[in-house]
Amino acid sequence: MRCSDVGITSNRFTSSVPLTPEGNEHFSYSSSPSPPQTKQPNLHPLTIHPAAPRIPQVAARVRGRKRSADCPLASRQGTLRNLSSSSHSDLPEKERSATRSDGQRMQVGGDSGGMELGDGSLNPGFRDVDGGSAAEDPGKEKRDPEYAQIKPYAGMPKEVLLLHSCKARYRVPREILFWLMVACTLALVALTVTVIALSPRCMNWWQVSPVYQVYLRSFKDSDGDGVGDLKGIQKQLEHFQYLNIKSVWVSPFYRSPLRDSGYDVEDFRAIDPLFGTMQDFEKLLAEMHSKGLKLIVDLIPNHTSDRHRWFNLSRTGDPHYKDYYVWSDCNGSAPRPNNWVSVFGNSAWTYDDVRGQCYLHQFLKEQPDLNFRNPHVRKEMTDIIHFWLEKGVDGFRVGAVNRLLEAAHLRDEPQVDPKKAPESVASVWDLHHDYTTSQLGLHDLLRDWRAEMQAYSREPGRYRFMVTESYDYHEVDKTMMYYGTSLVKESDFPFNFYLLDLPQNTSGLWVKHLVQLWMANMPKGQWPNWLVGNHDQPRIASSAGHTYIRAINMLLLTLPGTPTTYYGEEIGMENNNGTDGPARDPAGKYNASASQDPQRSPMQWSSDMNAGFNNKTNTTWLPLHPDYRSINVKAQMEDEGSVLAQYRSLNTLRQSELPFLRGWFCFVHADASVFSYLRELDGLSRAFLMVLNFGGEPAVTDLSSVPELPDLLTVQMSTNRSNDDKVLHKSRIPTEAGEGLVIQYTTNTRFHPNHPEQCYVSEKACYLSAVDLLYQC
Ligand code: GLC
Repeated sequence: MRCSDVGITSNRFTSSVPLTPEGNEHFSYSSSPSPPQTKQPNLHPLTIHPAAPRIPQVAARVRGRKRSADCPLASRQGTLRNLSSSSHSDLPEKERSATRSDGQRMQVGGDSGGMELGDGSLNPGFRDVDGGSAAEDPGKEKRDPEYAQIKPYAGMPKEVLLLHSCKARYRVPREILFWLMVACTLALVALTVTVIALSPRCMNWWQVSPVYQVYLRSFKDSDGDGVGDLKGIQKQLEHFQYLNIKSVWVSPFYRSPLRDSGYDVEDFRAIDPLFGTMQDFEKLLAEMHSKGLKLIVDLIPNHTSDRHRWFNLSRTGDPHYKDYYVWSDCNGSAPRPNNWVSVFGNSAWTYDDVRGQCYLHQFLKEQPDLNFRNPHVRKEMTDIIHFWLEKGVDGFRVGAVNRLLEAAHLRDEPQVDPKKAPESVASVWDLHHDYTTSQLGLHDLLRDWRAEMQAYSREPGRYRFMVTESYDYHEVDKTMMYYGTSLVKESDFPFNFYLLDLPQNTSGLWVKHLVQLWMANMPKGQWPNWLVGNHDQPRIASSAGHTYIRAINMLLLTLPGTPTTYYGEEIGMENNNGTDGPARDPAGKYNASASQDPQRSPMQWSSDMNAGFNNKTNTTWLPLHPDYRSINVKAQMEDEGSVLAQYRSLNTLRQSELPFLRGWFCFVHADASVFSYLRELDGLSRAFLMVLNFGGEPAVTDLSSVPELPDLLTVQMSTNRSNDDKVLHKSRIPTEAGEGLVIQYTTNTRFHPNHPEQCYVSEKACYLSAVDLLYQC
């Protein structure tokens, strides 16, 4: 066999490895009868075994092979040549030549250093059994080449194996496998690209979880001074996990004289000692992240405290800081530059005797407005944003954004009631705020800040979230502008304050109107949000009535978008109108009835001392609500029917059901009592119908005119637990006043295609039940 022909190959062969397995001598591979079995002389590896078939055949064979690129031998020519060049030179002359088929002696090594295998390939031993050159010579009897007679075996010289590998029985499966692999790889790549291309955008953390607002001073006091602090929040992190909440917004903790509960900042980069230290903050953030929680902090760009270093430098006329604030001339005759008023009442201007000018403050006089027309001020605020993003905060609640810029012309604002005496204009409701809110250039500021945050949002799972606070009341289009455009983003969503008006008229129609106000005006594809309370608004359980707190939580947690829950709403906490002295908050100091203290009473954790808010000493910065012995977290954790338990189940349902997270929202019905809507997802047969009674009376709702609904409906969850799992006919859905029902039903008829004007969707996606996959559609 050609192996020795492939002496080259057999070089190694002759020297160390017998051609046949276990060196069985009787294998002869020359055409002539096998020479007497003599002990193989210990030949140099490159020695041509005198009995070896003649090399030229190998070479010819190789040349033949070049035509079919897949034969590895072709590529080995070089190797063979190398082989010869390196090792043949020291062979005695006689050994270094072989006889070619044409009887010519063939040089081995020689000065060319390579073994010419040219003729080797002509050696019939190398012809394919599948009709190589043998085929060319039909007269000749077809015989397996010698090497082919030996089954490949472990240890067989690689070169011979390579020869074997040229056989069709090995090559064809190899080619099939190769192309199969190529085809599979291409298919996999195509599938991956298709899945990625068709995959809907992943939901972001601020879309999946409700935002929970912690009013820091009232959440949990860890050191017994009667005021909530950062360590106190750290102690209560399990509460968020119990509620299945991942996003927590903490109100201001920066160094502050606390004239406006921390919204008057003396140093944006320091923690006020009342709330803890920077170390306490970092520990809290680290532990929150370790529990998969996200921290949103307040950014208060509109103003600083009048104790802030900048203000003192500005009032003293320091060249760099003199225009950090909005100063204007005013004197005995014109004590105020114009009629602008503060949100907390009275003029928005105060004379400063150090500077001899008036400065603007849209809130308290202790909160002078920053001048964002000054690039230095813009830079300062950008640096502060970087400071907290570097600390690792996950987002900002940007306060009072609509008031960041004022008209430079300082003209009087038009009075709401032109007949009112100008000198009696003192309340924010007396004027149309054409020059102190929503000024041109405002959105550039927000776009810049968003861009800064975008730079920190590239890391997977570390998106930095922005929500803006702007009370635009009936001018809803102004609020919607804070979403930015499809090209240039601003906030992820502006807070939706419209449900704050729910208590004005608790009825199905009114609630539908408030929900529609947002859905109908929200730019297409943007993400809605809902809230019914915060530290500036009376608690909903008090303003709407405790009867409705469960239905209201059900509304917030089943509407599309992100709900924000103000601490205590999850247990139905009410305003504490009992006071133990003058109002602490600025609004209350101006107008007692507008005090914000009632909604800021300490959190009611248990019926223990101070409701578990401060279990060290018998003091709290604001009085506790007397109902804390019954309305508290601990009691409600033990009661499956409690507001807390229902909040928790609703939130778990919301985060585990695709129709709630990504589905269509469709108005179905509204009347004086009931507001009903559904959530459905294309491709998913499971859908949910909500029937909420905001009226004062029990109601029976008839939805028989809705063909997309099946006749029989099963109550998955009712705010009145005795109605859970009840089967109702769609023509007769009874609800008590304040009762809410979540009804799960199965259908293959979607509602939204038949009622496009009643339906909305943000993160549109469809479901392929066969493969349990969401795809863009
Ligand atoms: C924001 C805060 C409010 C504060 C005001 C002025 O609106 O929510 O509490 O009084 O800013 O800082």
